[in-house]
Amino acid sequence: MNPGVSLLCFFLCLSTIVCDRVYVHPFHLFSYNKSSCEKLDNLTQEEKMFVPISIESQTIPAYEENLKDKTKLGTQSSDTKRDQRLSYLKDLVHVLGMRFYGALKETLKGENILLSPTNLYRSLLSFYLGASEQTAADLQNFLGFVPPSGDPDCTSKVDGHKVLLTLKTMDDLLLSSGADDPLFTKLSCLFSAPSVRLSESLVHSLAPSADYFYARAVDFTNPSQAAELIESFVKGKDVSRTQNVLTNIDPSTTLLFVTYIQFKANVKKASQLKELQEFWTDSSTKILVPMLSVTGTFQYKRDDSKNFSVIKVPVSENTLLVLVQPVNSNDLNQIESELSLHPSSTWLQNLSPRHIKLSLPELTIQSAYDLQELLTNMNLSALLGKKANLTKISDANLTVGKVQYMPAILRNTFTHVFYLLEENEGSLPLEVTLNKPFLLAVYEKNSKAMVLIGRVTNPLNSF
Ligand SMILES: *[C@@H]1O[C@H](CO)[C@@H](O)[C@H](O)[C@H]1NC(C)=O
Ligand SMILES: *[C@@H]1O[C@H](CO)[C@@H](O)[C@H](O)[C@H]1NC(C)=O
Ligand SMILES: *[C@@H]1O[C@H](CO)[C@@H](O)[C@H](O)[C@H]1NC(C)=O
Ligand SMILES: *[C@@H]1O[C@H](CO)[C@@H](O)[C@H](O)[C@H]1NC(C)=O
Ligand SMILES: *[C@@H]1O[C@H](CO)[C@@H](O)[C@H](O)[C@H]1NC(C)=O
Ligand SMILES: *[C@@H]1O[C@H](CO)[C@@H](O)[C@H](O)[C@H]1NC(C)=O
Repeated sequence: MNPGVSLLCFFLCLSTIVCDRVYVHPFHLFSYNKSSCEKLDNLTQEEKMFVPISIESQTIPAYEENLKDKTKLGTQSSDTKRDQRLSYLKDLVHVLGMRFYGALKETLKGENILLSPTNLYRSLLSFYLGASEQTAADLQNFLGFVPPSGDPDCTSKVDGHKVLLTLKTMDDLLLSSGADDPLFTKLSCLFSAPSVRLSESLVHSLAPSADYFYARAVDFTNPSQAAELIESFVKGKDVSRTQNVLTNIDPSTTLLFVTYIQFKANVKKASQLKELQEFWTDSSTKILVPMLSVTGTFQYKRDDSKNFSVIKVPVSENTLLVLVQPVNSNDLNQIESELSLHPSSTWLQNLSPRHIKLSLPELTIQSAYDLQELLTNMNLSALLGKKANLTKISDANLTVGKVQYMPAILRNTFTHVFYLLEENEGSLPLEVTLNKPFLLAVYEKNSKAMVLIGRVTNPLNSF
């Protein structure tokens, strides 16, 4: 018998046995088990609370001192479990991201869109961690965790900390590329009305997921002053030079959750084209925009049945920038609806290396969304509405702010020279020019988690 064949056979048999024995429904990778359920019931009685210091105070509060301890979240139990969790969660992140993308498409007809599915997921998960009873059940459902059996006990509940830890693993994979300049920067703030008490354990759970995390008290009864204070507080942290985006704060707000994510892509070996280049915002409107160009070997596919092309641009070891363009006079609409029907990594399949000269617009896109408003558009305003049970965030009756901005910033600076080796293939490179509306996505390479998804209809509009 051919030894190669018998070896193959052996491995196949073994893997079948292993799979049979360890199969657990992915839901149970995140749910509580019986023993931790009981402990949980006993714990909820004794939530420790604290009042955040004023946003105007210059001191570093004691409750913030050990927030930097990133190990607080715990560690993943094993690599297999970690990978199973990543693989399941990335699809839930994709589905939620696409629901919001769909809602944004309705409100921002024809405009630029940029959102971070992982950050959105994390924000809603933060509220899940702070929710009880029906609110927790509704949020769990919205996050995509539907219990496989109808058991009403707590094993049908998802342990938010496990989910948070898995999202953190995705972030860590992104950051493990060792770039000197961080690609992503995350800032999260909980702003509460004066004398509203916040749960200490909740704040400790959320803090390790952001590069910067703050809890501060703000008087919302003067909305414009509150907005000013928040804007200057965030600017003082120097994570993102954003435009002022907080408007129309409801004076009855008692809690405002604000998160920022900034992404900077450096495409290796790219150079700026001297002349401004044409970009067609629609079939009859042409504008002139600055563009960058890079020649090298890229993973590429052109699908002439679905009428789009995909090019994958590595921006760091574990970060993939994917650019999707309609071909054959197709438009974005069709590609967008395809995307929501298919699992997240469809765009990454069946690519092959091609020698390409890629030209694309220089981009600085900043976007800000009000999560409450989007939920209202999705007929889900009750999810975080006045009746929501958020007793694990605070013992006060919370009014979650009308405005929860979640800006995402994309800036492709294209300066560093890295590992994209130019090959002398002796043939002329295929020219790919992004000179009409296109989609872009950023993936973490190992988990295929979608970190950013966006649509560029006009590269000159940053908002
Ligand atoms: C239940 O979960 C806890 C925490 O995740 C873990 O420490 C414990 O070993 C688990 N118990 C069983 C019986 O699996
Ligand atoms: C929870 O509290 C009950 C009643 O106080 C006690 O009998 C039980 O042992 C506790 N369970 C755990 C896991 O601590
Ligand atoms: C919210 O949930 C807590 C914890 O289960 C419960 O004690 C409280 O009665 C609930 N509040 C409302 C208004 O339903
Ligand atoms: C792709 O484009 C071709 C040519 O314009 C068209 O005949 C075909 O219907 C398009 N396919 C899809 C799926 O839209
Ligand atoms: C929300 O509800 C309205 C009225 O019932 C309905 O017209 C609309 O289609 C719903 N929107 C969504 C996104 O379900
Ligand atoms: C919260 O609202 C409930 C019912 O509306 C009320 O009974 C309770 O006293 C309120 N709690 C606080 C701290 O205001």
